[in-house]
Order: sequence, then structure tokens, then C-alpha cells
Amino acid sequence: MAKNYPFFTYFILLITITRLTSTTVGKTDQCKTLLPPELANINTISTKLHNDPKTIKIASSDYGNIIHEFPIAVFHPSSIQDIITLIKISYNSYVPFTIAARGQGHSTNGQAMTHDGIVVDMASFRKQRKGVAISVFEDPLIGYYVDVGGEQLWIDVLYATLEHGLAPVSWTDYLYLTVGGTLSNAGISGQTFLYGPQITNVHEFDVITGKGDFVTCSSEKNSELYHAVLGGLGQFGVITRARISLKPAPTTVKWIRLLYSDFSAFTKDQERLISINGRKLNFLEGMLLMQQGSINNWRSSNFFPLSDQHRIASLITKHSIIYCLEFAKYYDHQSEKMVDKEIEILLQGLAYIPGLHYEKKVSYVEFLNRVRSGELKLQSQGLWEVPHPWLNLFIPKSQILDFNSGVFKDIIFKRNITSGTVLVYPMHKSKWDDKMSAMIPNEDVFYTVGFLHSSGFDNWKAYESQNKEILKFCTDAGIKVKQYLPNYSIQEDWKKHFGTKWKSFLESKHKFDPRMILSPGQKIFNK
Ligand SMILES: Cc1cc2nc3c(=O)[nH]c(=O)nc-3n(C[C@H](O)[C@H](O)[C@H](O)COP(=O)(O)OP(=O)(O)OC[C@H]3O[C@@H](n4cnc5c(N)ncnc54)[C@H](O)[C@@H]3O)c2cc1C
Ligand SMILES: *[C@@H]1O[C@H](CO)[C@@H](O)[C@H](O)[C@H]1NC(C)=O
Ligand SMILES: *[C@@H]1O[C@H](CO)[C@@H](O)[C@H](O)[C@H]1NC(C)=O
Repeated sequence: MAKNYPFFTYFILLITITRLTSTTVGKTDQCKTLLPPELANINTISTKLHNDPKTIKIASSDYGNIIHEFPIAVFHPSSIQDIITLIKISYNSYVPFTIAARGQGHSTNGQAMTHDGIVVDMASFRKQRKGVAISVFEDPLIGYYVDVGGEQLWIDVLYATLEHGLAPVSWTDYLYLTVGGTLSNAGISGQTFLYGPQITNVHEFDVITGKGDFVTCSSEKNSELYHAVLGGLGQFGVITRARISLKPAPTTVKWIRLLYSDFSAFTKDQERLISINGRKLNFLEGMLLMQQGSINNWRSSNFFPLSDQHRIASLITKHSIIYCLEFAKYYDHQSEKMVDKEIEILLQGLAYIPGLHYEKKVSYVEFLNRVRSGELKLQSQGLWEVPHPWLNLFIPKSQILDFNSGVFKDIIFKRNITSGTVLVYPMHKSKWDDKMSAMIPNEDVFYTVGFLHSSGFDNWKAYESQNKEILKFCTDAGIKVKQYLPNYSIQEDWKKHFGTKWKSFLESKHKFDPRMILSPGQKIFNK
């Protein structure tokens, strides 16, 4: 029986859709007899379901370009009511079908896919949605905020809020991601140490649950759903609006890079910089420079002056890995002289290689949108749509030196296949909210390490086996890592991932998506 189940689902759904897409009166009547009577506006759904090869192809691939799951149809909603209706049809069906909201499909392991259900195309919703999808307000209690559709891109949120001289404070490195997509994970970048991840900068949001209920929630109102959804991997509802806090936006950024040959000096300085009181810096990250990768890879184009590239390259040859600390200081009305003075003070006592200190002055938009020019370049060369076997981890500070010697110095160096970006930077646990679904290590300071690999079409398996080796090393060495953008496929692994939060995660699932309809691509509740 269990084996027949998916086929049965498929069969019922196929009938449903065949009926939905029919336009003749007679067949529509048939359809109405098949579906719950309260869904009288069913015709508005049928015209919005698409299954032409081009549409299916997009919905069955993602940035990872490794996993492909084929949905039965792709839904192009034009209103919130459309999404409610679709979810209710499934929820009220004898055998429900799965539904996956797809933001930009910038996941790397099929998280926004479904192989036996309907993909809700949020990009199409963005184009069709009526009314204002990004609006700025001021409230006497909470200050400035923006109300933004869950389908919106962060780049558009940036441009719209800058028109008011305002901007959100917590970002991701790359801005062509959707609000609903990053809030389903956490949304991290070099501002997280100061303002927390994006999920802790949301006052309230609207969500359509797996029962088709439209609910507004905040930490005071429907707080269980609020905490479950943030970092909740799309398991409890489709986010249709989020209220995000804003602060006056700076205009200009001083962007600094410092090079280290010694990992412990590098991390010590990173930890020191994120712990300075009085908001002396606004952004901090770090990355590896390795022999295999070009010094000016697509994420760091043109940072290092030509005259120094030879020196840096020979340092990499000598030390095998050079660590690049990156921080930024925002300003606007202050004089540049004053900012330079403050940076000088920040640099005092840091242990980077003497002389290897680089600086750039850019606009705030240029800084936040820094990954875009590299993307466009790769796209023009056809290199953006290659497989991306990514691995993103959170590592407790107390074990980051072991991680360096076991993973960077040993696995990565020996395998010698990593040419893409490897990010390494710390953040504070106190800026996260333990009631939310997002999982982090249980230590005051922890690091994120992102292996943002691009591979060729025929060698991605080598990266996956490297990822497995890294994870195995951590398990064997007792390094308590948590995966960010986690990639598990059996529930036992998910249970371990959520640890003590698993019980409440499961309870919330039973409450808000009891028929296990939403985001099956995460592979948490699938059979
Ligand atoms: C080049 C690049 C750079 C990146 N940089 C960063 C970074 O700096 N920091 C960071 O934190 N992440 C980063 N990411 C990862 C990114 O946050 C995730 O891919 C995330 O899933 C957002 O992508 P998306 O909007 O395309 O969502 P999708 O991949 O489409 O969806 C992700 C999950 O959320 C669900 N979902 C989508 N929309 C909604 C919604 N409205 N409501 C509820 N659930 C929804 C989907 O079903 C799926 O399970 C990066 C990704 C790429 C490709
Ligand atoms: C994701 O998980 C699957 C199943 O465990 C595994 O086969 C795959 O290699 C993982 N992907 C990456 C990029 O490591
Ligand atoms: C790593 O691989 C490159 C070629 O891709 C090679 O030139 C280099 O010598 C290798 N380094 C080591 C340490 O094996």
C-alpha cells in the first residue's frame, strides 16, 4: 500500500488538474462535483496552472543544478487569495498534493522543488501581484519599517527604501534572493554580528499555513507560528508579507581587506573586531585565498592592485592558504578624514602581514550589491548555471582551530579542487533568537564557513565527496557543527539537526501543516 501511495496521489491530482484546466462548462461542472463545494472560484485557479516544458524545466532546477524534481504543474498566482485557494484544495483533498513555494530557486539541493505536486512561482507572483508590494512607514513605537511582499527581491527592497533615505540593516551577500526565501533560512552576512540575521529584524509577517489559513503573526500575536516560520524551511506556511525594520541609510563605505598567513591571528582579530563596543565597524567577513583560486575571483574582483598581485601569489605558494579579513565602515555626513582616523585606530594592534592592507571607497549600494557584477560576468560566459555543490556550516568558536587544521589545511589542501569562494567569519549567538526554528551551535561566538563551490558538469561528485569527508571529519573529531541551508534526506538526520527543538518543530508541523503539504523539497517529512 505504502508503495502505491505516490502513484495514487499523482493519479488523483492528474484528474484534478485535467478538470481544472478544462474550460468547457460541462467539464467545469464535473470539476466542481469532484472538489469541495466551498471552492466555487476554482476557475480562477485553472488558468494559472502551467505545465509547458519550459515552465516545468525552470521549476525542476535550481542554483545547485544537481537535483531535478519534476512538478505536475507550476502555479502563477496573481493574488494572495489564489495561493489560499490552491492550498485549501490540497488540504481538503482526499489525498493532498504537495506545494512548494519557489522564490528565485537559489537553493542548491532542490529545497524549492516537488516531484509530485505544484510549484508556486513567486517570481511570477512578483510580476502579477496587484497593489504596492514595498511600502515604507513610520511608527512611534517601532520607528521606521517597510512592509514587503514575501516574493520580493532584497535588491528591490534596497532601492525602494533608499528613496526614503532608509534601509534594512541585516543583509545577505547577494541581493537577488527573495524575502520569503531568506527568512525561511536565516539570512546572514557581514552585518549579522551586529544586527543578528535577517530573521531577527522582522516585526511581523503574514503567512498562509498548510491549512490555507491566512495569519498575521509577531512575537506577541500568534507567536508560535511566528517563531516556527522564521528559519522554518518553508514547513509551516507561505510568507506573503514581512514587516522589516529600517534605519537611516549611509551613503558611503570604506571597505578594508587585511591579509594573514596565520589562521589563529586571523580569527583572533576577527573576534576582537566584532566585540568592540560602540559600533566602530558595520560589517565583517573573511575568506581563504588559495593557490587554486585566482586572487581576484569573481567575488573579489579588482580589489588587490595589480602591482601587489605577484607578492600575494607568492605568499599563497609559500603558506598554501592566505586568510583575508574583510571589514567595512559606513559613513555619510562625517568627513572622510574622521573615518580614516577611526579606521587607523581599528587597525592598531591587528596582526595582519605588515603592508598587506587594502582599502576601497564605494557607495553603499555598490557595497551591498558587490556580488552582482561578478554574477553578470559569469552569466555572460555561461558559467553561472554550472553545478554548485555548496556546503555551509556553523562552527563553535572553541573548535575553529581544529577545523582549520583538519579541513582547510588537510582536506581542502590535499584534494586541491576548491577554486571558488570559501567564507569564514564569526558572529554572536546573543543576536539570534533561540525560539526561532533556525539552528546554530550552542556557544557565545560561532563561525560560519561557506564552501561556495562551482564545478563543471561532470565533476560535481568530487565536491560532494569532499563535503562528505568534511562532515565526517567533524563528526569524528567531535566538532559540533550545524549545517546552514541544511541538506539532509532522512528524518533521523533532521532530528539530530534540530536536537532539543525537534519536538516543538514537529508539534508546529502538526498544527500548521498537518497534511505535510508544504516545501517537500526539504525532505523533512516525506515518506
Ligand atoms: C549566489 C548566492 C549567494 C547567496 N548568499 C547568501 C548569503 O550571503 N547569506 C545567506 O543567508 N544566504 C545566501 N544564499 C542562500 C539563500 O539565502 C538561499 O538560497 C535561500 O533559499 C533564498 O533563495 P530563494 O529566495 O531563491 O529561495 P528558494 O530557493 O526559492 O526557496 C528556499 C526555501 O524556502 C521556501 N520558500 C520560498 N519562498 C517562500 C515563501 N515566500 N514563504 C515560505 N517559504 C518559502 C522554498 O519552498 C524552499 O524550501 C545565497 C544563494 C546564492 C545562490
Ligand atoms: C546532499 O545530501 C544528499 C543526500 O544525503 C547527498 O547525496 C548529497 O551529496 C548532498 N549534497 C551535497 C552538495 O553535499
Ligand atoms: C593543485 O592543482 C593545480 C592544477 O589544478 C596544480 O597546478 C598545483 O600544483 C596543485 N597543487 C598541489 C599542492 O598539489
